[in-house]
This record gives sequence, C-alpha cells and structure tokens, in this order.
Amino acid sequence: MEDKLKIVGGTPLKGTIKTQGAKNAALPVMAASLLLKNATLTLENVPKLKDITTMVDLLKVLGADISFHDHKVSISVPDSISWETPAPLVQKMRASSLVLGPLLAREGRAVMPLPGGCSIGSRPIDLHLKGLAKMGASIELQHGAVHASTKGLKGCRIYLDFPSVGATENLLMAAILAEGETVLENVAREPEIVNLADSLRTMGAKIEGEGTGVLRIQGSPDLQGGNVRIIPDRIAACTYILAGVISDGEVTVSDVIPQHFDSLLAKLEEASVDVSFDGNSVSVGPSRKKLKAISLKTLPYPGFPTDVQPQLMAVMSLAQGTSVIKESIFESRFLHVSELKKMGADVELQGNTAIVKGVNHFNCSEVMATDLRAGAALILAGLATEGETVVHGMGHVERGYENIEVNLSSVGAKIASDIGDEDG
Ligand code: EPU
Repeated sequence: MEDKLKIVGGTPLKGTIKTQGAKNAALPVMAASLLLKNATLTLENVPKLKDITTMVDLLKVLGADISFHDHKVSISVPDSISWETPAPLVQKMRASSLVLGPLLAREGRAVMPLPGGCSIGSRPIDLHLKGLAKMGASIELQHGAVHASTKGLKGCRIYLDFPSVGATENLLMAAILAEGETVLENVAREPEIVNLADSLRTMGAKIEGEGTGVLRIQGSPDLQGGNVRIIPDRIAACTYILAGVISDGEVTVSDVIPQHFDSLLAKLEEASVDVSFDGNSVSVGPSRKKLKAISLKTLPYPGFPTDVQPQLMAVMSLAQGTSVIKESIFESRFLHVSELKKMGADVELQGNTAIVKGVNHFNCSEVMATDLRAGAALILAGLATEGETVVHGMGHVERGYENIEVNLSSVGAKIASDIGDEDG
C-alpha cells in the first residue's frame, strides 16, 4: 500500500494559507513533559501529524495519560513511569530519542534502541550520549540499544562539537533535573530551541541564553505543569511561500514569525521574487518568469535551513542561469535530485554540491518521495508542470505537513490524493 498525490499543475496559486504549528518544536516540548511528576503540561497549536501521534503513542507507553483534540495536547505524567523505549516507536521516528534525556534525568535510567540512519544520512546520536556521560551517566551499548544509568546527573560544562538540534534539546532537558549549574556551549540556536526553553521555564526551569550559542541551566527539581504555545512552523511556511513562487502565483502565508525564515526571504529577494510583509504575514507576488539563479549553503540556524533545500532546488530548477546549492548538514540529502531530473530538471551532483541549470519547464512524470522534504519539493515541481504529475510516497509528506492537499487546493491547486494498492 502506498499513498500518492496527483497534481495537475500550471495554474498560478492565489490566496492565503494559515501556517500550522511547528512539528519540530512540538516534539521536544512533548518529550519535556516527562520531567514532570503528578502534573500536566498542555500544549496549544500542535499540528495534527503522524509524527506527533507517534510521540503521543510513545509517551502513553511510558505511562503518561494524554488527550489530543483541536490542536491541543494535554499530557499528565504520574509519579512513576517506565524507562524503556520500545524499538518499533524509535524506529518509526528518530525524534523518539528526545525522551532519553528526560527519562534518565527523572528515573536515573533509560533503555533506548539506537534510532539508526534514515534516507537523508546516518544520523548518529554520539553528541547526545557524550554530553549525558559528561553529566555523570554511565552509558553502554548492548544489542543495538543504549542502556543509560546514573545515581544523579551533575551540572557541568559541555561543548558540542557541532550545534546539533537534537543533542541541544536532550542535554537541555537532562540539565533541568541535574544538580547545580550546566553550561552548554556551541548549542543550536533554532527557534524550536527557544520554544523548548520557554516551555521549560513555564514548568519552573531556570535557563538563560536560548537563541544564543551558550545555554546556562540551574538544576531545579521542583517543576510544575502549565500551558505552553507551539510556535508557527517556519519550514511549512517556507514551503507554501515557494508554492506561490513556483506556480507564478500570489500567495500569502499567515500566522508566521517572518524573522524565523529571514534566510529564505533574503535568498528570494536575491532571486528577484517580490516579497512583502504585513505583521505576521508574508506574501510573494508573481515572479517565476523573472527568477534569477542564486547560490546557497545550508547551515545551522540562522543559516539557510536544510529542511528547505529540496523545495528551493525545485524552484531554482526553473530560474534563469545556474544555481549552486551546497548541503552541509546532512550527508545524503539529495535524493530528490534524481526525481527532479525525471521531470526534466538539469541538476549535476558534485559531492555535497548540486549545480542546478535552469530549464524552461518540467515534464509530467511519476516520481517518488523518499523523505518528507523531498516529497514537498516534488509537489512544488508538480504545481509548476502543465499536465499531470504523480507523487508517490505521500506517507513521508504527511509526517510533516498537516492537510497539505487541502491547503494547496484552497489557493487554487488542482491536486487530489489517491490512496491505492500499488500492485493493483
Ligand atoms: N549529528 C551527529 N551526532 C549527533 C547528532 C547529530 O553527527 O549526536 C549530525 C547528524 O547526523 C546531522 C547533523 O549533525 O548530519 C545535524 O543533526 P541535528 O542533530 O542537528 O538534527 P536532528 O535533531 O536529528 C532536527 C530536525 C530535522 C532537521 C535538523 C537540522 C527534529 C525532530 N528534526 O533533526 O528535521 O533537518 O534538526 O535542522 O527537530 C525535518 O523536519 O524534515 C527534519 C529532518
């Protein structure tokens, strides 16, 4: 069984799309609820997505009581919970590893199967484990699972070799219940980290420095429940803006924080796209016919996000001139290239750099989404293609975009899902 989406492109999109809450902010905040005992954390603006349901399932298996209605998740955590993370849930979603820090901090032990690689790279968690070990955890790998234990985590200074988003989140959460002060250096500065720190502060944590390269945390054992709000999804917002650009349409994304995707907006201006702002909305005007090639390198925030690289590559495939796109975060996040080439894109890969020569149009094709953002890129390409494009592997896309089909249809896209058995 596989889900596919049919797109009849060539129509300029017109209208406003409201942005969903951020998946990558909601997941760590949900994991952070495990630091609580006999208390409830309520999150608002949580997107309805497969990955969120996986985290709900994981927290339930560990012992939390959860309700999820109308984009609101309430997580009540009892005094005693399990510390063993089941392999099927970790294998389903790498972000399941975010429960490791909170479990170890509150229970003094945790067992978690190693999440393993995925289509965009090997994605080790060595930085998470190294940091937890420095805080006093004993970590062993047995039969492909991490067995971590501690008599009590201790505050210390940890320098991350790379500003990993997940390692920053795991160590930040663990440090909340550690004894004394923890200083995390060279940490990730993503808005999702700021949302996590704000949420932890609502729970009673003492944190300084979120959004900078250094986090200072004073261990604070007395936490309480509370209400937190998840920030808008900057990656979904970027994807819908690019849908406007690639369709040569006029699209506004509302309910966004434009500063969170300044790097894309700067690149769009460089590419001659008409961009305008009105409070929490960003609009693009018809620009495809004058699109100019650009060069970019993906970097940790506030650099250009790797999660928008595939979508921007689809757009740049139709620009005038040659764009150079360098991926520096993941080792193999170019699986969309072969599919874009099937559609007529002219892309040459040289190691982790893609040389994208603009072409006039894409051709109708059947293509395969190999991961979430690759799928988004192929949908964008389909919106620009006269005739029918079929994107297979929509299950990946549903992990990160709530109602993408409905949202794009609402601004004029001719798009329909077709769930059927591939073998007949
Ligand atoms: N890395 C290591 N060792 C570690 C941790 C990371 O070598 O211990 C490497 C990774 O292999 C990768 C790079 O560092 O090459 C970046 O990984 P990072 O830890 O920053 O990413 P992540 O926490 O696994 C989050 C998002 C990703 C997003 C990246 C980068 C969540 C749930 N996931 O992943 O989102 O691409 O940060 O911004 O927050 C997506 O939404 O499509 C997605 C993949």
